[in-house]
Amino acid sequence: MQRTTLISQPFDMIVFGGRGDLARRKLIPALYHLAREQRLPDDGRIIAVSRGAMERDAFVKMMHDDCITHSGNGADDTQFDEASWARFAERLTYIGIDATDAKSYGALIDLLKGREDVVRSFYLATAPDLFGPIAANLKALNLVTPASRLVLEKPLGKDLASAHEINAAVARAFSEPQTYRIDHYLGKETVQNLMVLRFANALFEPLWNRTHIDHVQISVAETVGVGGRWRYYNESGALRDMVQNHLLQLICLTAMEPPSTLDADMIRDEKLKVLRALHPVQADEVAAATVRGQYRAGTVDGNAVPGYLEESDADSRSDTETFVAIKIGIDNWRWAGVPFYIRTGKRLPQRSSEIVVQFKTPPHSPYPASAGTIHPNKLVMRLQPDEGIRLIMLNKGRGPGELKLRQTALDLSFAETFGGRSPDAYERLLLDVIRGRPALFMRLDELEAAWRWTDGILQGWSDTGLAPKPYAAGSWGPNAAIALIERDGRTWHEDDI
Ligand code: BG6
Repeated sequence: MQRTTLISQPFDMIVFGGRGDLARRKLIPALYHLAREQRLPDDGRIIAVSRGAMERDAFVKMMHDDCITHSGNGADDTQFDEASWARFAERLTYIGIDATDAKSYGALIDLLKGREDVVRSFYLATAPDLFGPIAANLKALNLVTPASRLVLEKPLGKDLASAHEINAAVARAFSEPQTYRIDHYLGKETVQNLMVLRFANALFEPLWNRTHIDHVQISVAETVGVGGRWRYYNESGALRDMVQNHLLQLICLTAMEPPSTLDADMIRDEKLKVLRALHPVQADEVAAATVRGQYRAGTVDGNAVPGYLEESDADSRSDTETFVAIKIGIDNWRWAGVPFYIRTGKRLPQRSSEIVVQFKTPPHSPYPASAGTIHPNKLVMRLQPDEGIRLIMLNKGRGPGELKLRQTALDLSFAETFGGRSPDAYERLLLDVIRGRPALFMRLDELEAAWRWTDGILQGWSDTGLAPKPYAAGSWGPNAAIALIERDGRTWHEDDI
């Protein structure tokens, strides 16, 4: 196997919440794939920490089975093999710790002794109310070395005030440059490609503005419901769970100015300017600019599924939204007057995430009406699944008869073009933590700017009592989401070309 990007420095990665859902589904499989592709140094240990004792062998077996389940095609040998697993497993240790009790950290202290110069990453895959206490314990026990990093998973707060509180608590133990706030969308290959597409090609950037772009659409659709995590999700809802972080980051990368270098702060400065330019949605605008939805029973992928209020653990009076659509303005010179329509939801008809940049229609058509409609050009960036880029344009339909204009697509499939396995977002992000590259992590000021804008909508919803509208599972959300864009004479993109 070819060796690429091998990190030379030794590291310890300490995962709090080491037996939790995220560690099992994403973190350990991502580390396994990095090790399998020989991107990790031999001296790199993974220490899973969680409440409760567990024999190491049992832990390793559990992770082995999880890795098979979560390595793409199950035990398909292009994704998983026992020999590389056996080598990887040597890196794994499990320690039972009550993270809130400094007295229970003894085994961790022993394990880290003598490795003060090694890159030490504390990954907090726990509930956010533990972030402050864990950081404080690590500091009090002198476990925070100059080479230490703290990785925080979302949700980082439920509004600006709580986000501020959490960040202030961790800042007492870790400096801002040591703090890595994960938004896993930034680790997706296709999301990173957005910048390459814009800034490594001369073709698009001259057109990337209000003169040539009519509007932008961002859709992140999921078929899954909230199933086993109802209680958690119900405290959050689609706006906090998806928009405040993932969708705003997608807007940033689409709308930002070109950074002069790829330096982490150069990129984050440009994203911050976009977040600060988002038009605040006030209480008197929420009804027109936002749509909240909540799924009812329906059919997804041919299976009957229950409504949000009928999921196990559900409180049938909940008014948490599982779908949100928003018309967003960006108040700056480049984007004045160009709406960004975004939508995201659970239990939609298909899993698909895409950004559609729709250009303006030509100002004049020399073609007779019989030639057909002059549809605008669209650049469709498919983030998942079937990652790729489509440029939709008009061409002449074949034939000597009357001239017909045909919508056609230049289609670039990343799977066909690049081949191989598409790495999971966490692989890139974990590697960047170890390498000390913070560009793909959210800086505190970005996080706070995102919350400030989101808080405006939350406040507006609460002031106006805007309740979620029901939609059938398996549909594209409430009709109001269609009306949101159609009121402006536009439609959500359908990939039917
Ligand atoms: C998470 C949300 O951040 O992103 C989940 O909490 C959501 O609710 C998930 O399902 C979507 O991520 P992906 O990578 O599957 O698009």
